[in-house]
Amino acid sequence: MTDTHADPFSRPLPDGVVPAEVVARTEKRWLAIMVGMLVLMMSVVVLAGVTQAIHPPSNVEPIEPVTLHLGGEFAESNLGTAQERDGSLTVRLVAGQYGFTPDCTRVAVDTPVKFRLTSTDVVHGFLLPSTNVNTMVVPGFVSDVRTRFTRPGVYRMPCNEFCGPGHHGMWARVNVVPKEQFPSLGPTERSRCVQQ
Ligand code: CUA
Repeated sequence: MTDTHADPFSRPLPDGVVPAEVVARTEKRWLAIMVGMLVLMMSVVVLAGVTQAIHPPSNVEPIEPVTLHLGGEFAESNLGTAQERDGSLTVRLVAGQYGFTPDCTRVAVDTPVKFRLTSTDVVHGFLLPSTNVNTMVVPGFVSDVRTRFTRPGVYRMPCNEFCGPGHHGMWARVNVVPKEQFPSLGPTERSRCVQQ
């Protein structure tokens, strides 16, 4: 069969081969769809941050981890549950390989509770299943989380960041008691679980 086309570029393409201009048009269309998706997702992130205050945990409060025991907020006598003037509770805990100090704290149900934690050594995790509490505990910083327990009971708090060979045994408890069972605390008094 003789070739009737003198110019090889104007020859008809074999079956199944898509012409270059059609390929370019399709690629441009997909590029536009992809850029559109990126813009949409970025706007969702910006809008959620601006209108609903949805941010990653960002309590940047530095603390010197090696002198915690010498005094200040995380000295041993200040750990446990403290009662604020407005009736809310503040629980201070120190995480270290492989335990929390104190390992059991007591709070009242239906009361605003603020947990303040720091670490003496490596990164630990603080998780209370079935609540909104889930944060990292980073040495050199204070983690600050707020919650309110709606049901009394014993809440187990496992460390949920791998912190070394003893990680699996690192956990503590929060004992949530009815309001009438929670003692009224003086400004320097701290409540922990009663030893059984
Ligand atoms: Cu501490 Cu895992």
